[in-house]
Amino acid sequence: MTQPSDTFDSALPPEPLGDDLRSQFALDQQVAFLNHGSFGARPHCVLQAQDRWRRQMEADPVEFLDRAGPLLLDHLKDVTGRFLGAEPGDFGFLTSATEAINAVLRSLDFGPGDELLTTDHAYPGIRNSLQYVARRSGATLVEVPVPLPLASHDTVVAAIEEALTPRTRLVLVDHITSFTALLFPLERIIDVCRKRGVEVLADGAHAPGMIDLSVERLAATYYAANLHKWVCAPISAAVLWVTSDNQQRIHPLVISNFLGEGFEREFLWQATRDVTSWLAAEEAIAFGERLGWEMIRRHNHEMAVWVQQMLCESWQAEPNSPLDGSMLGSMVSITLPEAVRRQFDDHRALGAHLYQAHRIEVPVTEWNGRWLIRPCCHIYNRPEEYLRLAETINELMH
Ligand SMILES: Cc1ncc(COP(=O)(O)O)c(C=O)c1O
Repeated sequence: MTQPSDTFDSALPPEPLGDDLRSQFALDQQVAFLNHGSFGARPHCVLQAQDRWRRQMEADPVEFLDRAGPLLLDHLKDVTGRFLGAEPGDFGFLTSATEAINAVLRSLDFGPGDELLTTDHAYPGIRNSLQYVARRSGATLVEVPVPLPLASHDTVVAAIEEALTPRTRLVLVDHITSFTALLFPLERIIDVCRKRGVEVLADGAHAPGMIDLSVERLAATYYAANLHKWVCAPISAAVLWVTSDNQQRIHPLVISNFLGEGFEREFLWQATRDVTSWLAAEEAIAFGERLGWEMIRRHNHEMAVWVQQMLCESWQAEPNSPLDGSMLGSMVSITLPEAVRRQFDDHRALGAHLYQAHRIEVPVTEWNGRWLIRPCCHIYNRPEEYLRLAETINELMH
C-alpha cells in the first residue's frame, strides 16, 4: 500500500500533481465529481486512443479482429502484465470484474455441504453471483459480519479465520471494499486460507491504479481486477488472473472457438467483442506513467486521509476506520449523521439531491443500517470540492 510521505500532515490536503489536471479529463467541469470509484473517469488521450483503434477496426474488421487482434492483445498483455505484476500467460482480458468473478464461480463444481465464504462488505452484484452458484449447486453461502467501526486489520483476518470450517471450499474476499471503502489485508487472509487448504478468489475491482499491486506475489488462487476504475482505461476493461495450477479448470462465461486449447487461447477469443477498450488501456497506463503511478497513488491516498479527518470533524462523525489511513486506499466511507437521514426518504434521494441541487456526484449507499457516503479522490479532484460537500451536508443538518 502507498504509505503517506514523511512530510505528510493529514490536517492538510496534498499539493496538486499539476496545473489544471481536470481539463485533461472528459468530465463535466461544472460537477464536483467525487465518484471515481463507480466507473472511473477517462483522460481525453485515452478516449482518443480508443477512437483510433476503433477506426482501424472499422477500416478492415477481418484483418483487425482475426489477424492483427491476437498480436495486438499479446503486446497489451506484456504491458498490462508489467503494470499488474503478472506473467502475460496467467491472465485474460474481460469486460468487468463481475464477469471475471462469474467466470471463476461458474467454472468450479460445488456440491451440497460445500461452503462459499465471504464478508458482509462484498459488492452486491458479487454476493448475488455467489448466491446464484450456491443455490444451483446446493452449496451454502456464509456471509461473515465484519462490523464498523474497524480498529485494525486484525479484526478482518480473525473474522474470516474463525468462520473457516472443513467444508469451506472458497473464500471470496475484497481487496478494497465497495460501499465501506476499506483496504482489506488480503495477503494475510490468503495466508490463513492457504494453511487451511482453502482457495481464495480476490475481488480486486478497485486495486489496479489505487494501490501498489503485484498480483503474482499476492498469490490468491484467482484475482479479478478492473482497469476501467483507477487505471482510467475505457469502460469494459478488466482482467482475470489464475494460478497456473488452476488454469485448466477455468473457462470464460462465453464458450467459443478455442475451447480446450488452453486458458490463454480461450480467454483471447470470447466471440465477437469490441476489443478497443482493452487496447486503449495501454494509453491509460502510459498517461499515469507520465505523471508517475507512485505519485498518483500517494496523492490520492493522502487526499482520502485528509478527507476522512476533515469530514468526520465537520460532521462530528465517528470514523469507520483509523484516522491514520492504514485501512484506506483512495476513497473513504463516512457514516452520515442521523440529522441528514431525517431529511430524505432514502439514501438514493440524498444522492440525487446532492447531484441535482448542488452538482456534487458522490455515492451514498445503505450498508447494515448505516447510510454511507463515499468520496473518492483522484488527481483531478481539488480540496474545495470536499469542503463544498462538507458545507452542503452541514447545511442540510441545520
Ligand atoms: C468491490 C467491487 N467489486 C465489483 C464491482 C463491480 O465492478 P464491475 O461493474 O466493473 O464488474 C465493484 C463496483 O464498484 C466493486 O466495488
